[in-house]
Amino acid sequence: MSTTATAIAHPNIALVKYWGKRDAALNLPATGSLSLTLDVYRTRTILTWGAPRDRVVLGGTEASAADAARVLHFLDRVDGDRPPCEVVSENNFPTAAGLASSSSAFAALALAAVAASGQQRSLEEIAVLARRGSGSATRSLWGGWVIWPRGERPDGTDSHGAPLAPEDHWDVRLVVGLVSAGPKPVGSTVGMVHTERTSPLYAGWVESAEADLLVGRQAVVDRDLRALGEIMEHSAYKMHATMLAARPHIRYWRPETIRALEAVESLRKAGVPAYATMDAGPNVKVLCDTADAPAVAEALRGAVGDATILAPGGPAHLLP
Ligand code: DP6
Repeated sequence: MSTTATAIAHPNIALVKYWGKRDAALNLPATGSLSLTLDVYRTRTILTWGAPRDRVVLGGTEASAADAARVLHFLDRVDGDRPPCEVVSENNFPTAAGLASSSSAFAALALAAVAASGQQRSLEEIAVLARRGSGSATRSLWGGWVIWPRGERPDGTDSHGAPLAPEDHWDVRLVVGLVSAGPKPVGSTVGMVHTERTSPLYAGWVESAEADLLVGRQAVVDRDLRALGEIMEHSAYKMHATMLAARPHIRYWRPETIRALEAVESLRKAGVPAYATMDAGPNVKVLCDTADAPAVAEALRGAVGDATILAPGGPAHLLP
């Protein structure tokens, strides 16, 4: 007998970043993080539990051996005795370019797998499962503003995304300046582990993260764009500084990345409160008031060529 489930999940962008693991096997973070789930961008995953054979199709083509193994290994965690499964997943935005595609991918996969297998698991348990696939995915189960605490338990059951405020809590925009839609040269997992092992700045990064998280959380609760913007830029620059100090260094930025960052600073000098963050890729994401989003998008287009305005988005969900 086969059962099919279809799940939708939106990517999230971290405002206070996750970069480093306290337990690589369980994928537990060294620090807590804070994120905003986005609208428009989404992953849709159709999972058939009980298929003729294991098969993974990503973006309309057969997955590479490595990608298929990562997906199938994840399904083994859902049920060690599972039947063959077919996974058909696609994104409506660039994949693996530092636009958080793994966050929506594993959130959708976890939700679809639990539903298709007929298991009864709470959303928190599904978020723990999603974390095993990719850390940031634990935050995409929820819409809006999400906290992922570091957690204290060795088994990681207290380290999963949790809602801070829903998507309608605060009407802001995140404008994505697209420098490159191509895959990033160094994946997040490899980049993090290398940074932990070789960057002399890593200890300071970990030590100072909890304070950033407290400031970020309060700024979201207070809807204080300046306070959130300042801590979010600080967290992003500090994360990149930490990986730039690795040996050999990891640098995701391109010349256009710097141009976009300069455009954001010019906007601020002109009185527009706009604040940047960058992930494991060259793209720049800018948080601003909704009324300022068109001006921010225009400035980013001038700097990098392409910009998209996104609003806070909703939680991952199953389609009927
Ligand atoms: C820079 O969640 O992709 O986007 O857990 O190793 O799969 P793994 O890493 P991943 O890393 C995200 C890193 C980041 C910051 C963030 O999203 O918090």
